[in-house]
Amino acid sequence: MKLTGNLETAINAQVTLEHHSALAYEQLAIDMEAIDLPGIASWFRAQAAEERVHADKFTQHMLDRDAHPRLEAIEAMAAPATTVLEAFEASLAQEQKVSEAIRDLYRIAQDEADIDSLPLLHWFISEQVEEESTVSEIIGRVKLIGDDGSGLLKLDQELGSRPGGEAPSAGTE
Ligand code: FEO
Repeated sequence: MKLTGNLETAINAQVTLEHHSALAYEQLAIDMEAIDLPGIASWFRAQAAEERVHADKFTQHMLDRDAHPRLEAIEAMAAPATTVLEAFEASLAQEQKVSEAIRDLYRIAQDEADIDSLPLLHWFISEQVEEESTVSEIIGRVKLIGDDGSGLLKLDQELGSRPGGEAPSAGTE
């Protein structure tokens, strides 16, 4: 069934919001590199890659339903994070914003009786619960670590083991 009306507009905005999330995570990776925490930077790069996959899922859904996604302007990034706690609190705020946007999409889909979009939206509802939970747990651990440098380095090492966050080569070869 062709995607139309308010739902098409809202899913199009969601494509842009997911790309915004990807850029926000790239910025947080840069912020963590700047304070010499390459493992946490790598975790944020992996998260940025996951956000691009989210954007692509919505893009593909639109294309599958004869709609033509159009990327919109992305608002400027927030001020750089200067601590690990600030970085993950920014991450949680971004995820909460995305969760609310997904709930809004679900409400619109229900209003428009758009059954075809529901499996995709259910997947995203579960994904957001998981993402908020993961980030909240890391925030809890960062608070426990406090000013303990060795604890922070251990967390950096642990988060750096997440696959998919390898730094791109800046070489010229
Ligand atoms: Fe695509 Fe982390 O929300």
